[in-house]
Amino acid sequence: MKISQRAQKLQPSATMKVSSQAKKMIADGLDVINLGIGEPDFETPKNIEQAAIDAIKAGKASFYTPAAGISELRTAVANRTENDYGLQNLTAKNVAITTGAKMALYSTFQAILDPGDEVLLPEPYWVSYSEQIKLAGGVPVAVPVGDSFKATPADLAAKVTDKTVAFVLNSPENPTGVIYDHSELSELNDWTSQHHLMVVTDDIYGQLVYNGAHFTSIAQLADQLDPRIIIISGGSKTYSMTGWRMGYVVANEQLISKIAAFLSHATGNPTAVSQYALLEALTGDQAQVEVMRQAFENRLNTVYPLLNDIPGFDLPVKPQGAFYLFPDVSAALKLSGIETTGELVSRLLTEAHVALVDGSAFGVSNHVRISYATDLTSLKTAMVRIKAFMVQFKD
Ligand SMILES: Cc1ncc(COP(=O)(O)O)c(C=O)c1O
Repeated sequence: MKISQRAQKLQPSATMKVSSQAKKMIADGLDVINLGIGEPDFETPKNIEQAAIDAIKAGKASFYTPAAGISELRTAVANRTENDYGLQNLTAKNVAITTGAKMALYSTFQAILDPGDEVLLPEPYWVSYSEQIKLAGGVPVAVPVGDSFKATPADLAAKVTDKTVAFVLNSPENPTGVIYDHSELSELNDWTSQHHLMVVTDDIYGQLVYNGAHFTSIAQLADQLDPRIIIISGGSKTYSMTGWRMGYVVANEQLISKIAAFLSHATGNPTAVSQYALLEALTGDQAQVEVMRQAFENRLNTVYPLLNDIPGFDLPVKPQGAFYLFPDVSAALKLSGIETTGELVSRLLTEAHVALVDGSAFGVSNHVRISYATDLTSLKTAMVRIKAFMVQFKD
């Protein structure tokens, strides 16, 4: 048997690993609360499900579609991006539909990176960016950022080299929930433009912002989409469609044609029935989006003070978007005498029956990621359990 060097180096997604461990414990009859998972707990809105059923009944789901998706859906994404971002002149040719935002990112890195090309990743960063960059032959370059968790041009300048070709920006961010504002984006836009860097902006959490916060994408600072900028998004988080695997890339036409060529060999086409579901999601009734957004906001507002009340868990700045909290647990380690965050997470799972993700999965030690994409009762119970676990170490 032979396993490639590339595959040998590859680690499974840490967040998916925690989740499957928690799911297995639940299946074994243990009362585990899974806050490791990054997916909304709501069923996909009914109008979206119905559109998929209708597409199947009409015989539209049986056959291959174009590799970059059906033209109605590509046009719908172009129109929504024009409207939501205030951009002009986008057409179906600027859009590729992909198997989840994960494949949108994967195909983008395949299309823009040559071996040895460096990509700047503000740290902490979402687990799959670095692995996908490596799979494309690129070199992920972690960029340490300050306490605000937001990268500044000075942070990037400390890591840029003559091999740097791109910068990945995720706002609202997984795992921190921070949002970059207009002036921060403007500075990053100017700096990346001066250094001729591509910007991959992962806007997948763009509609999940709370307590009056406003989402701006770096892509919307001009009237036309800058050819340096690649927008990644999809239906998973906004429309609670993780299982449908629907994402998309919006970018310069020439780049999209290469991404489409890549997709034609990699996935053939994104699943046909899911494309009709996303078409309804983007063009149909949006009422459920606000209902879900409000539920997340309510959870954030409930769980944030409870979290800060746990001995050793510190999160001074309240997150504004996505559905994650990323507290510093240095004091919890000190208080408990537990040596590593990995061990803390493991003991919380086995002793308190709460699944969290070790921050080192996102490149940062002494932090944990807590997802609040879970019902309020479970969230409150989880906070009580973590607090009880920590209180035993006091005195
Ligand atoms: C920042 C970020 N980008 C992309 C994705 C991938 O989304 P999808 O489920 O559409 O592949 C996720 C999912 O967790 C994410 O958190």
